[in-house]
Amino acid sequence: MYSPRASGGNDIVDLHQFSDWLSSTAFSQRIQVTPWVIPAIQTAHIISLALLFAAALMLALRIAGRGLATEPLHLLAARFTRAIWILLVLLLISGLLLITAEPGRTITNPVFYAKMIMLVVAIAVTLWLSAVAKRQFERPSGLHVFTAGASMLLWAGIMFAGRFIAYFESN
Ligand code: HEM
Repeated sequence: MYSPRASGGNDIVDLHQFSDWLSSTAFSQRIQVTPWVIPAIQTAHIISLALLFAAALMLALRIAGRGLATEPLHLLAARFTRAIWILLVLLLISGLLLITAEPGRTITNPVFYAKMIMLVVAIAVTLWLSAVAKRQFERPSGLHVFTAGASMLLWAGIMFAGRFIAYFESN
């Protein structure tokens, strides 16, 4: 049974203890002993992130004034931001399943937390881009182009961190 342990006088949950507990649960054990489940969840995660990157790229290109101008900006942005939110939910579900399956790979790994911080920033940037798109401007400003480019770098950074988790030894 998991019980949060106080450390150093603070109520800080011991991540190793939590990871061990999660790994020992019946659900995690079930995933661990069924060889095809983790590759199947990873496949769902990868397909979702590929589609998310495609949707984010369309939004960024349009906001930066690089084509796709046949559809009004606000309609294109509404379409692709909706897709981004749906795909983020799928990534969250598949990501949580991957954590449950192999908690020791992520819960104590700083790269995983770097990925989550970049994800929060990417979500904030996407919210800004979608708010900007509602204003229906004629020409993109330097800030629009910069932020659209930054959003692409952020999503790429999240993908790099997602892959890097497997290669970074956590204590
Ligand atoms: C929404 C919350 C998310 C959670 C909780 C999550 C969690 C995870 C976990 C646990 C792994 C397995 C890491 C390992 O054991 O090696 C993983 C892999 C990965 N994630 Fe996420 N993730 C999330 C969102 C995203 C997003 C938004 C992207 C990219 C746009 C992304 C890209 C990746 C990549 C590229 C991998 C490596 C896949 C592989 O090689 O099998 N993740 N993620």
